[in-house]
Amino acid sequence: MALKSSIGATTPEPGCAGETACAAPNEVGALNSIGSFFATPFVVGQVRIPNRVVLAPMAGISNSAYRRHFKKHGVGLVVTEMVSAYGLIYQNRRTASYLDFSEEERPLAVQLFGDDPKVMRRAAELVLSRPVAPDLIDINMGCPVRKVVRSGAGAALLDDPDRAVAVAAAVVAAATATGVPVTVKLRSGVRMGEKTAVKLAPRLQQVGIAALTVHPRAAAQFYQGVADHSITAEVVKAVEVPVLASGDIRSFHSASEVVSLTGAAAVMVARGVAGDPWLVRSLLAGGVQGRPGLAESVRELRSLLAEAARDMGSARAARWIRRILGWYLKGARVPTPVIEELRRLPDAESLDEALVALLEDR
Ligand SMILES: Cc1cc2nc3c(=O)[nH]c(=O)nc-3n(C[C@H](O)[C@H](O)[C@H](O)COP(=O)(O)O)c2cc1C
Repeated sequence: MALKSSIGATTPEPGCAGETACAAPNEVGALNSIGSFFATPFVVGQVRIPNRVVLAPMAGISNSAYRRHFKKHGVGLVVTEMVSAYGLIYQNRRTASYLDFSEEERPLAVQLFGDDPKVMRRAAELVLSRPVAPDLIDINMGCPVRKVVRSGAGAALLDDPDRAVAVAAAVVAAATATGVPVTVKLRSGVRMGEKTAVKLAPRLQQVGIAALTVHPRAAAQFYQGVADHSITAEVVKAVEVPVLASGDIRSFHSASEVVSLTGAAAVMVARGVAGDPWLVRSLLAGGVQGRPGLAESVRELRSLLAEAARDMGSARAARWIRRILGWYLKGARVPTPVIEELRRLPDAESLDEALVALLEDR
């Protein structure tokens, strides 16, 4: 099975319910051998993760309502969007609100970003001293956004491995007394062709990092191009701790292929489940489940909207869900102009009414 040939393929053949249903006959055996793998638990440090499908952190998207939504669909672990260590130590209210979560989200990781070991250590202490502390802390070493990289954080740490290791060690030092494991999510490197992750991984393990998530695109690629999971496989070989594979997990087929080629302990799902939470069930069930139609997409959106409005108020919820509407509705073949109209609605109430009307019009 050629890795690159099928990862990233998003267009199912006509008549197929999804990529898995279309697997070539000689691939079916390999897929079946993965079977119920995704539904089995694994352990990070002392934390038991009930299955091997992890919801990716996505800035601006993966808030508590989004995470709860995917928890209902069965993911084994959720991660907050990235939280600024400086924002926490300077007591920025909005930053602190990113740490809020509900018990039903457990196990949950808080993801921190920052460039300075001392600041990261203090931020981790603040996170862990809250009345409701997370189950894991994750460190962002992959964000390619200019503002983050310029400050020396995110993917910039890959260009300064000693600092990256010092940041990891500082957060581990803050967390050791609590028993909360610390993990790192990293890109393959800053520039195309670099394999910084492979060299850095053993050093991170050595200072006590309990798991690694590899997103094997260069930071320079942002979110374009194909994730090169041969690099994930090299990281798996280089360390003993669990490695999670992130990038281009879009179907049971691609998830199975990535796991069999890399030996990763779990997959992390991001854009592949955006608008298709049913994919989580497919992975857990060990095969394709098919995607429901418009009625179900609308039902999901209304439930997400109601949850978000409860957390953040009607107007903010309507603004937030604009980023997500298209993912659900395009998948259910709603025309783009209709989606654009929905995006202009100012509050949760009017948007909810319009979603109901969308079904009645059909
Ligand atoms: C809109 C968006 C926001 C993201 N925000 C974060 C983030 O806050 N922290 C992080 O580690 N990765 C972030 N990522 C990267 C994802 O977690 C994931 O690694 C990446 O999208 C690759 O997976 P995919 O190809 O399945 O989308 C973000 C990705 C997107 C598309």
